[in-house]
Amino acid sequence: MSESSSAYRLPYAVEPQHYELTLSPDLDAAAFTGEERVRVVVHEPVTEIVLNAAELEIHTAELTSDEGDRREATITIDEENQRATITLDGEAATGPWTLGLTFSGILNDKLRGFYRSTFTDDGDAEHVIATTQFESTDARRAFPCWDEPDRKATFGVTLIVDDELTAISNSPIVEETDLGNGKRQVEFADTMRMSTYLVAFIVGPFEFSKTVDVDGVPLRVAAVPGKSQLWDFALECGAHSLRYFTTYFGLPYPGDKLDLIAVPDFAFGAMENLGAVTFRETALLVDRDVASRLELERVADVVAHEIAHMWFGDLVTMKWWNGIWLNEAFATFMELLCVDDFQPEWQRWVSFGTSRAQAMGVDGLSSTRPVEFPVGRPEEAEAMFDVLTYQKGSAVLRMLEQYIGADEFRQGIAAYIKKHSYGNTETTDLWDAIEETTGQPARSTMDTWIFQGGYPLLTVAEEDGGTRLVISQSPFRYRGGGEDSTRWHVPVLVRAGVSGDVEHHRTLLSDAAGEIDFSSAPDWVVVNDGGSGFYRVQYPPDMARRLVAEPDRLAPLERFNLVSDAWAAVLAGHSPLADFVDLIGHFSAERDPDVWSAILGPLQLVDRFAAPAVKDGLSRFVRDLVRPGFDELGWQPADDEPGRVGSLRGTFVATLGTIGADPEVRAKAAEVHAAYLRDRSAVPGDLAAPILAVAARNGGEEEYSTFLNRMRNPETPQEEIRYLLALAEVPHPALLRRTLEMALTEVRTQNAPFVIATSLTNRAAGADAWQFVEAHWDDLRRRFPSKLIPRMLEGITALIDPVLATTIHRFLDAHPVPGGDLLINQSRERLDVNVAFREREEPNLPKLFAAD
Ligand code: BES
Ligand code: ZN
Repeated sequence: MSESSSAYRLPYAVEPQHYELTLSPDLDAAAFTGEERVRVVVHEPVTEIVLNAAELEIHTAELTSDEGDRREATITIDEENQRATITLDGEAATGPWTLGLTFSGILNDKLRGFYRSTFTDDGDAEHVIATTQFESTDARRAFPCWDEPDRKATFGVTLIVDDELTAISNSPIVEETDLGNGKRQVEFADTMRMSTYLVAFIVGPFEFSKTVDVDGVPLRVAAVPGKSQLWDFALECGAHSLRYFTTYFGLPYPGDKLDLIAVPDFAFGAMENLGAVTFRETALLVDRDVASRLELERVADVVAHEIAHMWFGDLVTMKWWNGIWLNEAFATFMELLCVDDFQPEWQRWVSFGTSRAQAMGVDGLSSTRPVEFPVGRPEEAEAMFDVLTYQKGSAVLRMLEQYIGADEFRQGIAAYIKKHSYGNTETTDLWDAIEETTGQPARSTMDTWIFQGGYPLLTVAEEDGGTRLVISQSPFRYRGGGEDSTRWHVPVLVRAGVSGDVEHHRTLLSDAAGEIDFSSAPDWVVVNDGGSGFYRVQYPPDMARRLVAEPDRLAPLERFNLVSDAWAAVLAGHSPLADFVDLIGHFSAERDPDVWSAILGPLQLVDRFAAPAVKDGLSRFVRDLVRPGFDELGWQPADDEPGRVGSLRGTFVATLGTIGADPEVRAKAAEVHAAYLRDRSAVPGDLAAPILAVAARNGGEEEYSTFLNRMRNPETPQEEIRYLLALAEVPHPALLRRTLEMALTEVRTQNAPFVIATSLTNRAAGADAWQFVEAHWDDLRRRFPSKLIPRMLEGITALIDPVLATTIHRFLDAHPVPGGDLLINQSRERLDVNVAFREREEPNLPKLFAAD
């Protein structure tokens, strides 16, 4: 451990081994009392014990030994550093002791620590829940503890709750005692050795699903009453994930039971508390008959991700928060493998292309960061929860896996999990395990991707009559660039058509340039074969033409990359928009929904600033591009339609009904939406969001009240969020204003930041939304969970107007968000990149999208 980081760590002289913890939450008073007895080992004689506590009052403290030796203690609280110092009235010798503490605290409404969540039941009665969210460092808000990931201990939890309430924690209940005073004492089994951030308590009027026995592991879903029709899919995903990971890691599930719990107010998507995983409702509860494929995929993703953490994260844990990226990147990688196995027809690795492209969008900025960096104060780790950790991190793991071979890679992982079970690790421990099992240079390769920001652009050229391919690397940047000698160890996979055969080549490019020799001059060459590389490729025009001419030679992910790389070149100012427009003109026969997103995203950006005269031409261009595919699919799904066709239909409808300005599609979408409102099951799930998008973009007062009513009386969590966000998409400033006001009042703080983010992207009134943010800044900062402020501000990237951009920068300069600046700076730079694109290309639009 380095000097600088040790300043933020608790001393190791006293080490916790087992916590006996009793908590009595008072839901109505929004408070709790607690007592704990912590079995500790004193490694060197001490006169004080330092541990973490925040917003807690510690009433009494004493230290006793097994022999009855006793030290009285006084307590000093350092709120600033979130520490409590227990000063003993005499030295405590080395050996085992028990620290006894009594304390009390509040159930806050900030969705962290031990907090209050509320819901109204069907009879309009309000109910309160007490629940926890401890990662990264908020266990200390619920009980005094050594709140650092490498202070693993076992936990024996007891909750004292109102008779009629359900109590859930990490392990099974071992005893329940009626206390006679309307309260019940619920005692849970001791947990395995684990970190404090994984402890959880959930108390409220929860109902459980049936218990599914997954090869000996009891699996259940818990939700507030009235949701039992929404939990079957999660149970199925949970059972599949448990089996999949047990096989992948080659070790049994480390807990005793597994509950998946839907919490009405939840800051993130989900949290991997051992055996008691918590979720926001949209990420767990879903009606598979009316949901879209993407909504189902979201549930499958989140469930798989959190269950992967039971091994990778919970059983084996990072030593310190600089390692959080690996925890999250790996769980994301495993989530994708698992969901791909669960529903192969979803082609999860293809849709991952879109997420990876988002990461590349951020990682090409000068405000990017290395995936791993030193973390002193734990708060610094908060900035790690972003697309670079999740998407870049998982993408570079995928790149490594594809390069060294999936099974070898799996063996390395299994060895790592086995070796470090119940322990803590650093990133290098994983590379070491992979190197030991595979003999491949994992560490030196991965260090170049992890410890430096950005990624390379590979420029390829043919030499020697085409028999030799020269590949050179240079950092890809949306702005600036110039002299930059950063190099990566790039696993390059190449596929080429040579005299009617297909040749595969691979090389680890670590210098500025490298070469590949073919047996004779190929007809065509794909660099980034399979499409898993975290880099972009620039072909000479002639090589690119040969690829575009026969798109079926390319896998969907490779076509995605071709389009995505071409667009990046335009956004970076390396090539003109005209080239991109020309390229996508060849994609009318494309039938992959993700490739279509890569094609249409840029056009949506152009539509944001296209003058009215250009808009008609752009709409027509879009119709010409999309209509043939849509006509082929039609509105009605065929019975045997593969899993992603519905999404494609949805994309076509949403596009034609919005920027395509197709009158027929708009009229029909309105009709289908009306049918949906009468009976959800009359409309295919994949169409629900697209027809709503069309209705919102063309909606007025009447539609607005329909949306509002649906949002307030939803049938499913997905429906609630869809209609909520539709309220931010209506093209009328006065209506948007109502939505923004609601974001400060009626909308749950877990959703409100996203409502504002969407409002900022509103084409008709995004600028008004920005005004609103400025005017209510203090209120927003006070109300919203601090981690969601950068998410709210992501919406600014759509406000591509040079004058407005200046206003935004000035405001954000004057109103820094501690801990959020890294993410906010990325949004600010993306705004600048978009503005620069507009300034370059606006004059060319009339020519590109001639009105006639
Ligand atoms: N461990 C995280 C939750 C978390 C995030 C805690 C940030 C503290 C700070 C959890 O495993 C996670 O990654 N959740 C994701 C969903 C997941 C499917 C990508 C989330 O909450 O967005
Ligand atoms: Zn995670």
